[in-house]
Amino acid sequence: MKLAKRILGSWRAILGMGLLLALAPTAWAQGTAGAKPAETQKVGSVDWVKVNPAFAQATYVKDKAVCATCHEDSMKAYEGTMHGRQFMHGGKNALQSMDCESCHGPRSKHAADPDASLKMSTKQYTQACMQCHQGGGRMHWQSSRHQASELGCTSCHTVMKRQSDKALLSKPNEAAVCYSCHTNVRGEMQKSSHHPVREGKMSCSSCHNTHGSTGKSLLKAATVNETCYTCHQEKRGPFLFEHAAVRENCGNCHSAHGTNNPSLLETKGSFLCLQCHSYGGHINLPRYNRTSNPYGQGCVNCHTTQHGSNSPSGAKFTR
Ligand code: HEC
Ligand code: HEC
Ligand code: HEC
Ligand code: HEC
Ligand code: HEC
Ligand code: HEC
Ligand code: HEC
Ligand code: HEC
Ligand code: HEC
Ligand code: HEC
Repeated sequence: MKLAKRILGSWRAILGMGLLLALAPTAWAQGTAGAKPAETQKVGSVDWVKVNPAFAQATYVKDKAVCATCHEDSMKAYEGTMHGRQFMHGGKNALQSMDCESCHGPRSKHAADPDASLKMSTKQYTQACMQCHQGGGRMHWQSSRHQASELGCTSCHTVMKRQSDKALLSKPNEAAVCYSCHTNVRGEMQKSSHHPVREGKMSCSSCHNTHGSTGKSLLKAATVNETCYTCHQEKRGPFLFEHAAVRENCGNCHSAHGTNNPSLLETKGSFLCLQCHSYGGHINLPRYNRTSNPYGQGCVNCHTTQHGSNSPSGAKFTR
């Protein structure tokens, strides 16, 4: 069986070489800039010889038909991806038109004498991806926690076949990708009160930019509050009377992922407020003595505008 495969392999190699020879004149005729067969051409920003010295003297085959002689299955799957479709008809620039070789480097030597010696690491693939994806959402990749933790593009993306509806993710949905490492967040999202990620109404990337950001915790906006305001605009104010705790950080009272208290609250009922306020203050006023009962909804029974008030008499957030 193995021998049969090897023989088949070498037949394919010969076929591959034959194709190469047949194609060589066309490559000459096209006269691509700097197409000197004896040296590694420079098309993208990756220095392929640095990636692997075995790339030395290799040139771009620039023809998928050659790769297809040996990699038909991989290619069939690849053709259903965004890259496959975009590059199928030549691509929009020199690098895109290299198609396979934009990510895999110049492969003439490999096609003639194939083996797995050019296999790349996650980090090396990341360099290849960044030739085309440096901008946009990846602007802060270099300084991101994910980059610093040795993740690369292929930690979350699978580009050789379509496994998700969007963004070539390695799992059918985004949260599943993240949960493979962030198991604690999966636990939080299972709690009774949670942002509707598991219902599919939003995703981790509604709040995070996993590729890097200027804010902390890979948040999309500069602060926690700015991130929350993108959807809960009414909490931004401005208010006539602001609650310092709210202005400082929504996280003072809420968990962003999930809790077992209503409304994503970190702590239940009046205990939430009593972390910072002492109940004694007004309960001793005869007016509130009986009614200020810290059970159930507790403080927010009366302090209904705890996020801020626009009422002229709302200084104590009671209206
Ligand atoms: C003559 C057959 C043949 C041709 C032509 C060929 N390959 Fe390969 N390729 C192989 C073999 C054999 C392996 C090793 C498989 C293994 O051992 O896992 C391989 C492995 C690979 C790998 C995985 C390991 C690595 O080096 O990263 C990639 C990627 C690859 N080939 C890309 C290409 C591309 C792109 C082309 C077209 C430019 C191409 N191959 C042309 C036979 C071929
Ligand atoms: C956008 C970058 C990119 C392009 C374009 C690309 N590949 Fe790949 N390829 C990868 C990555 C990354 C891997 C490593 C496996 C992984 O992480 O999914 C890979 C793996 C492979 C392998 C190893 C076996 C496998 O299927 O996983 C082969 C063979 C291969 N590619 C061939 C090709 C061929 C042939 C083309 C062009 C038709 C091509 N690739 C285009 C990025 C690319
Ligand atoms: C030669 C340029 C090039 C290279 C190299 C490249 N890409 Fe792309 N990629 C594109 C283009 C063009 C698109 C189409 C969308 C666009 O214009 O941004 C795209 C789209 C994508 C998308 C979005 C897919 C979708 O369905 O929305 C992802 C994810 C992606 N690339 C990841 C990668 C990863 C990971 C790598 C490295 C393994 C990589 N790309 C390498 C050019 C490239
Ligand atoms: C920690 C997981 C993770 C890593 C690492 C990662 N991505 Fe993504 N990527 C995602 C998710 C999730 C999405 C879809 C959500 C979105 O659009 O932001 C995405 C979307 C994309 C898109 C399409 C949307 C857009 O922003 O244009 C591209 C292109 C892309 N990633 C490229 C890359 C490249 C290049 C790298 C490596 C530098 C990379 N990704 C690393 C998770 C990741
Ligand atoms: C391959 C594993 C892996 C995957 C997949 C992954 N992460 Fe991470 N993530 C890490 C590591 C490692 C860190 C570093 C902090 C740590 O040790 O927890 C991190 C940190 C983070 C942080 C905190 C950053 C900070 O500055 O404190 C956020 C937020 C995050 N990841 C979100 C996501 C999201 C959203 C996804 C899915 C799109 C995702 N991660 C996918 C491994 C992963
Ligand atoms: C509603 C917005 C929102 C959504 C949706 C969201 N996060 Fe977060 N995430 C945050 C905020 C806010 C923080 C805390 C920031 C801080 O205070 O540092 C955080 C912190 C994190 C951290 C670092 C701290 C920790 O808990 O380990 C990770 C990892 C993380 N999120 C992953 C995820 C993943 C994975 C998903 C999707 C399943 C997700 N987040 C969905 C807002 C969100
Ligand atoms: C991408 C939009 C989006 C962002 C950003 C966002 N939320 Fe939400 N939030 C929602 C949606 C959707 C719901 C569910 C509303 C519903 O079920 O009716 C929700 C519900 C809530 C609830 C009420 C939960 C309940 O059970 O009553 C709280 C509290 C909340 N979010 C706080 C926050 C905080 C704090 C942040 C910032 C860390 C934030 N949200 C960021 C979309 C968002
Ligand atoms: C001082 C504690 C506290 C802070 C800080 C806080 N909240 Fe709340 N929030 C609450 C309480 C208590 C409830 C539940 C009210 C109820 O049950 O009537 C709530 C409910 C909510 C709700 C659901 C009901 C509604 O009013 O729409 C949303 C959404 C919400 N908060 C968003 C936010 C956002 C966004 C921030 C940051 C700007 C924030 N909260 C900061 C205490 C707080
Ligand atoms: C993280 C700490 C913190 C939490 C939790 C908190 N507060 Fe506050 N609260 C403050 C601060 C700080 C002020 C501003 C005090 C000042 O200006 O003297 C304030 C002001 C107030 C005021 C106005 C006080 C005055 O003297 O004008 C009321 C009423 C109030 N909070 C009610 C609540 C209620 C109700 C809750 C629970 C839903 C709550 N607070 C939770 C920190 C907190
Ligand atoms: C029965 C209604 C009611 C309940 C319940 C209630 N409060 Fe009040 N609280 C008030 C009113 C009314 C004022 C305004 C008093 C004033 O204007 O002099 C007030 C004032 C305050 C003040 C401002 C300090 C002061 O003495 O003026 C704080 C802080 C406060 N409440 C916190 C809380 C906390 C924390 C809880 C829950 C443990 C709570 N309140 C429960 C009605 C209530």
